[in-house]
Amino acid sequence: MTEIFSPKNIIVTGGAGFIGSNFVHYVVNNHPGVHVTVLDALTYAGNRENLAGIPDDRLTFIHGNICDAELLDRIVPQADAIVHYAAESHNDNSIADPEPFVKTNVEGTFRLLEAARKYDVRFHHVSTDEVYGDLALDDPHKFTEETPYHPSSPYSSTKASSDMMVRAWHRTFGLRTTISNCSNNYGPYQHVEKFIPRQITNVLEGIRPKLYGAGLNVRDWIHTEDHSRAVWTILTQGRLGETYLIGANGEKNNIDVIEMILSIMGKPSDDYDHVKDRPGHDRRYAIDSTKLQTELGWKPLYTDFESGLKKTVEWYTEHRAWWEPTKQATEAKYKKQGQ
Ligand code: NAD
Ligand code: DAU
Repeated sequence: MTEIFSPKNIIVTGGAGFIGSNFVHYVVNNHPGVHVTVLDALTYAGNRENLAGIPDDRLTFIHGNICDAELLDRIVPQADAIVHYAAESHNDNSIADPEPFVKTNVEGTFRLLEAARKYDVRFHHVSTDEVYGDLALDDPHKFTEETPYHPSSPYSSTKASSDMMVRAWHRTFGLRTTISNCSNNYGPYQHVEKFIPRQITNVLEGIRPKLYGAGLNVRDWIHTEDHSRAVWTILTQGRLGETYLIGANGEKNNIDVIEMILSIMGKPSDDYDHVKDRPGHDRRYAIDSTKLQTELGWKPLYTDFESGLKKTVEWYTEHRAWWEPTKQATEAKYKKQGQ
């Protein structure tokens, strides 16, 4: 399909985080005419190193907060699109302290929407499948764009709020918006607090992997590169005011993922601990991405989870200097929570 919108200057909020930085690399490598401005507050989850190697003529990095309306007044007028990734993203943190989630995910999205409205800039909102709540393990249905919102955690409730504002700004003010709701990403540059990197780096450090509760919860894994291509496709070809679900048929329960990591890393398959479960733990997510596939022609390229996971294990093995500085503090925080 041909592009119906061809942005030349995009602002990527949260572009120094996991998925945002992967998206920036994707755009720089695949769309030579596009200049990227990353706006990132460099919280504990942001790392300037995630953007290392990108030439200066392709990338402007701005260290700042999406809640800063004056800063937005300075940078938004030069952009033709905002791709909004910045968020507090970790469920366990939102249970320990919800406040930063309300500030960044709700107020931050509001500030960006107001700036986009003031300067008539196209807005793509990156959201999550968690806004739909969870499915029973044996439910034959998956989430679709029509599934009612039913968020469980402070994190997902703030993402649901931000989605609702984007819809309202489109309908009431005619802002040119699209929304994508994606399932669990894996790949390089993911913070060691998250499930897959936590277990890989645990094994590399000689710590036993930690499984919450019985470990039967299911997540629908997608490689972050497939997510990046989907977001670009929606930004450039998606219909305004629409929501598109992104997923790659990657359902796995947590025990299977831990056992796969242990097997890839040459360890016995039962070499892990069961720890305290997450309060309100969503049982299962599953995405039906028919709309994105049929309407916009997107397809996942990483269809073999095990080989994507092997590559991810290799990346963490080869990039110890990237994750080692944050590992100890992350594990200390989990220890306090009994996890
Ligand atoms: P992340 O925590 O790795 O990165 C978040 C980035 O946002 C960091 O660079 C951080 O410094 C920045 N940030 C946080 N607060 C900010 C603020 N107030 N102002 C400016 N920058 C700020 O998150 P991620 O996993 O890469 O997720 C990115 C986005 O994708 C989020 O909106 C998340 O809801 C969504 N999402 C994530 C997944 C997933 O599996 N990780 C799946 C679907 C959707
Ligand atoms: O579905 C999309 C969402 O996926 C995104 O919106 C979130 O930003 C992202 O963090 C992710 O949320 P989850 O809560 O599903 O991801 P997490 O990596 O925290 O946990 C994945 C599963 O693994 C979940 O069932 C909890 C479990 N888990 C997690 C950790 C950190 C464990 O069993 N052990 C652990 O140590």
